[in-house]
Amino acid sequence: MTVSFSKDDLRELVGLVAHDPSADEFPVTGWDAVVWVVGNATLTAHYFRTVYGMDLVAYSGPETGNRDHHGYLLTSGEGDAAVRFVVTGAVDPDSPLAEHHRRHGDGVGDIALRVPDVDRCIEHARRAGARILDEPHDVSDEHGTVRIAAIAAYGDTRHTLVDRSRYHGPYLPGYQARHQPGSGEQVFQALDHVVGNVELGAMDRWVDFYHRVMGFTNMAEFIGADIATDYSALMSKVVASGNHMVKFPLNEPAAGKRKSQIDEFLRFYQGPGAQHLALATTDILAAVDRLRAAGVEFLATPDSYYDDPELRARIGRVRVPVEELKKRGILVDRDEDGYLLQIFTKPFGDRPTVFFELIERHGSAGFGKGNFRALFEAIEREQAARGNL
Ligand SMILES: [Fe+2]
Repeated sequence: MTVSFSKDDLRELVGLVAHDPSADEFPVTGWDAVVWVVGNATLTAHYFRTVYGMDLVAYSGPETGNRDHHGYLLTSGEGDAAVRFVVTGAVDPDSPLAEHHRRHGDGVGDIALRVPDVDRCIEHARRAGARILDEPHDVSDEHGTVRIAAIAAYGDTRHTLVDRSRYHGPYLPGYQARHQPGSGEQVFQALDHVVGNVELGAMDRWVDFYHRVMGFTNMAEFIGADIATDYSALMSKVVASGNHMVKFPLNEPAAGKRKSQIDEFLRFYQGPGAQHLALATTDILAAVDRLRAAGVEFLATPDSYYDDPELRARIGRVRVPVEELKKRGILVDRDEDGYLLQIFTKPFGDRPTVFFELIERHGSAGFGKGNFRALFEAIEREQAARGNL
């Protein structure tokens, strides 16, 4: 599917808002890439291409002079909204990626962000006390020059900051164009948000980090009883870049009767990390049908969710009959600005850690607060089945 998104489309798709970057000390234009570290990059890239319909666009590996690891750049969507997944896995047994994978399993190592001025961001981040992992520097090849730097986020997660305004290659120097289109229709057109799970008591520290270091603002707040079930509870706050293109909900466990899903994540990821990536789609029904046909498993939503008269009244009219949502287990939430449709996959890899959300927004700028209880109860059924509750 070839779609080019206008600003209006982005407003609808991911909640873009107007923002003046000149007054922003750490302006962020949008996502640059989600860099995965996995145990088998070759197969994972194949999975994203055949199951999610992503296009393979560039490659780095021994054949291109990179003897350390494989890197596959896959994209979904078009124009400013296009999502880049970079899937990396060790070739050299001594690669740092091998150790990263041994510790964390398959996961997100880097949430790279596009910024217009890397040096200005790093100067500000340094003054605000951030840990600078890579000082600003140029990397060049025959396609031009990228200005790049990196700061530490929660756990071993990094934020690489990228200014690619003087670069015309497919991704970064070291990567060569390699075209292999995804099979069939693409499932998602943009990245809506990436959720971070942090340790008990650390959420406010990370919210403060995104405020102080990156100039992010609060979007919404869900605390305590909103998202407590009998067994688990969590606290969650959402920070976003000035234009709302980049949204980071941050979760920490809260005291429940038993182990929460956040505790389970922290144990199996061996620390804080990216919990889920919300993929924005213009047609969640078609997306779910396609993914299910390809064998992707979703969290089950009980029929009672759809039959609850209170919920029916609250969600009001949506673009398809509720029966169509019920058939697929798609959740609905509504707030004063509109509604959203969402569904969650089971964990992506072997460990009960990172997973995906599909989200179709219709005006709502929320995150599905009204669904948290139904969702958590579904997650807990899975946790119980794994013997981790
Ligand atoms: Fe989400």
